[in-house]
Amino acid sequence: MHFPGRLSALPPSSFAQLATLLDPHQPGKSPISLAIGDPNGAVPAFVSEAIAKHAKDFGVYPPINGSKEWREAAAKWLVTRFGLPGAAIDPEKNLLPLNGTREGLFLALFTVMPESKAGQRPVVLLPNPFYQCYAAAALSAGGEPVFVPATAATGFLPDYASLPKAVLERTAAVYICSPSNPEGACASESYWRSLFALAEQYDFAVFADECYADIYLNRPPASALPMRGAPYARLLTFHSLSKRSGLPGLRSGIVAGDAQMIERFRGFRNYAGPQVPLPIIAASTAAWSDEAHVIANREGYREKFRLAQRMLGNRAGFRIPEGGFFLWLDVGNGEETALKLWREAGVRTLPGAYMGREIEPGKTLTNPGFSYIRVALVNDLSTIMAALERMVEVLDTERA
Ligand SMILES: Cc1ncc(COP(=O)(O)O)c(C=O)c1O
Repeated sequence: MHFPGRLSALPPSSFAQLATLLDPHQPGKSPISLAIGDPNGAVPAFVSEAIAKHAKDFGVYPPINGSKEWREAAAKWLVTRFGLPGAAIDPEKNLLPLNGTREGLFLALFTVMPESKAGQRPVVLLPNPFYQCYAAAALSAGGEPVFVPATAATGFLPDYASLPKAVLERTAAVYICSPSNPEGACASESYWRSLFALAEQYDFAVFADECYADIYLNRPPASALPMRGAPYARLLTFHSLSKRSGLPGLRSGIVAGDAQMIERFRGFRNYAGPQVPLPIIAASTAAWSDEAHVIANREGYREKFRLAQRMLGNRAGFRIPEGGFFLWLDVGNGEETALKLWREAGVRTLPGAYMGREIEPGKTLTNPGFSYIRVALVNDLSTIMAALERMVEVLDTERA
């Protein structure tokens, strides 16, 4: 399958590539998928109750701004979670509800893209590897995606400041993901500071994808809103209930930041944005207002990482990431290992290359994800234990 026109540079999605790699082969044992980051957990009762209570609202078109209760709960969460001064988020001006962060990460780009910058096609900077929506957005909005390696050498975050001046001058927007998918790297305070200085210098928008912000191992990572401070010039941040609350099926997130950018995005959403259904808004209001389920959720991930550490030891460069719920294992050749894990152990993982792009086209080794597999620790503990046991066996025969 190929896309036409400006989307022709988009390869099939990571999971379509994975199906092409694995599906022609029988799994060696009963299949376990550690490929998709589906949190898979129990749905908190307050979510189902809120949806049932507001089910009659499925009969009306929802407002683009959500409800007053939602706006206040979202603003309160942002202020509390990120330690912002009390009035630093105006619920009417600094935020909007999203049907999951993905649609916001995609659609908001259209509202910051000029026709040209420095007399040329505008550039959108992306980390490489990256969440695939960023590239689809860049191309759809008429930008040239520039893939910036996020490797062990750069602390698994893109070093945007190292790019040539000619590229930075054409840059209209950058995506930054922290904690990052797939590597679990977190931007430090100094990383944020230098990114915002660069945004000022070259006049570009910063899209901070922080959908994993509540899944961290030790301390909460530094975040974009407090680092930028009000009025959050040039900044939009994206937050999600998919990871924090383990509710990817709810499709519910927040975009927050620069009031002017939010105003423009609201205007654009009035044409093209999918409003969030009111029963979902009611459930989301409850979810942003409750921390108990998030603390339990986070503790669950800590336990899974401790288990992985015990089982994997120092195999494949194992490290506990600072945030997120993925292992990013350096296995030498991610595609080969993923196929082997499937054929011999029935374990489905994602080759890192499917989340990256070759820096030099045609040279697979220049894909920064080439030597990695991504392993999602989202199943229950005993399923993860069974999968890791089988993985250890395969990795050890590979090394032997
Ligand atoms: C880095 C990253 N950003 C955004 C998303 C989309 O999340 P949501 O469910 O909020 O649309 C995901 C989902 O996997 C992700 O990994």
